[in-house]
Amino acid sequence: QERERERERERILLAAEALVKEKLERDSSGHDWWHIYRVVQTTKRIAAAQGADRFVCELAALLHDVADEKLNADPAAAQQELEAWLAASGTPAAQIDHVLEIIGTMSFKGGARPPMRTLEGQVVQDADRLDAIGAVGIARVFAYSGWKGRPIHDPSVMVREQMTEAEYRSGNDTAINHFYEKLLKLKELMNTDFARKLAEERHLFMEQYLEQFYAEWDGER
Ligand code: ADP
Ligand code: NI
Repeated sequence: QERERERERERILLAAEALVKEKLERDSSGHDWWHIYRVVQTTKRIAAAQGADRFVCELAALLHDVADEKLNADPAAAQQELEAWLAASGTPAAQIDHVLEIIGTMSFKGGARPPMRTLEGQVVQDADRLDAIGAVGIARVFAYSGWKGRPIHDPSVMVREQMTEAEYRSGNDTAINHFYEKLLKLKELMNTDFARKLAEERHLFMEQYLEQFYAEWDGER
């Protein structure tokens, strides 16, 4: 009955959490366990507000980065491992397919990125994107840039859109540049109304941050 099924879902989510903690513990590129934790927290909030399936959302949020190519020397093997884990987890087949579809769409690489088909996918994608903006997003850009050995800022570096491909490839990339390249564009990409509201506050914070940053840079504040 329903109580029993709820307990089973809770058990699966806890097992997924343990798996992810173990896999991402050693990461320092911004995909650590605490990124997953934040995405799960935000996912729960958006899912509740938008009436999405909580279990599918939470499971997809927990597992969304475990097979990512940035974190795995062999992404195909990691994907197989993930599928095997899900098959053995006790998750019903239809929900396994749903979770795998969400993760696959989120990590889609290359040109025309397909839109999220389901509400649950839209929720998790929004939560992941929200973690790239606002105060936490700012922290992650600088962490990632430092990890890549890139400078904080260089006034002579143009924003990505004004660079040629050759200039971009030459490594002329800074943390501040990434705001224009990506972070300030994410607000417009939110799928759900609730996430858009959260994004607006975080977006405004980034704009204020940049204003303060440039003022301090030139000794004006
Ligand atoms: P996702 O978590 O959706 O897979 P990414 O792997 O692209 O996103 O980025 C992870 C984090 O690293 C994000 O917070 C992002 O802002 C940051 N990041 C990604 N690329 C760059 C870059 N070129 N410069 C600075 N930060 C970056
Ligand atoms: Ni992520």
